Amino acid sequence: MRKSSPLRPLIGRIRNKSLRRKVSEVVQNLQIQIGDAVYTGISFEDSPAGLSRHHSYPGGLVEHIAATAKIAFAFCDAVEEVYKGKVDRDLVLAGIILHDIFKPFTYEVNDGSYLTTHLGERLDHLTLAVAELVRRDFPLDLIHIVCAHHGGQAGPIWARTLEALICHLADQADSQLNGQVLRAARYLSRRVIGEEPSQFTSKEAFEVIRSKAVEGWEGARMTLEKIRQRRLGSN
Ligand SMILES: [Fe+2]
Ligand SMILES: [Fe+2]
Repeated sequence: MRKSSPLRPLIGRIRNKSLRRKVSEVVQNLQIQIGDAVYTGISFEDSPAGLSRHHSYPGGLVEHIAATAKIAFAFCDAVEEVYKGKVDRDLVLAGIILHDIFKPFTYEVNDGSYLTTHLGERLDHLTLAVAELVRRDFPLDLIHIVCAHHGGQAGPIWARTLEALICHLADQADSQLNGQVLRAARYLSRRVIGEEPSQFTSKEAFEVIRSKAVEGWEGARMTLEKIRQRRLGSN
């Protein structure tokens, strides 16, 4: 992991030394070898976390992991403080850090839009992660979290531990939060200026929906104009 890796502070919060070291090693050495081919994917920092449904902009994956960790910790607080249950926060945190770690291997950029790679058309990010974590001798309960993070309807298996359930729910919650805000901002933009700016960032999307809620259509129009000017200025 490079010094500036955005995942460093999260990894540092894993208290179990051996788990922390193993997670750090995966993040430092992100590559997949199949036969003679070595795959590395697009840069982790620039990767989206989805092609279109959620976090579909550069840096989206890092934001998704950070937000999902916060949501998962809120679930842990509720379990411990309200329900008086026990939860292994190290497993939850490691699971969140690793659950989508191979997404950058499944995306490539073409003319400013994202496409699925040769590898990504054959193996999804969840399968890649499970294979790599088995190869690296991770604990079964951690591999289960990654394997179950899409739930049993969209993935291979339902969560069978509290930690896996928390990671699944937190992942779903953040994907919905981000995806619905992006969708709303795109809709407002089409209604107000007749088009969508390419790749709304989360910051822009949250700005647009807030201005519409507080100041109405005119507020949304002014915010979209502000975003357009800002983008022109940064080019
Ligand atoms: Fe995923
Ligand atoms: Fe995710």
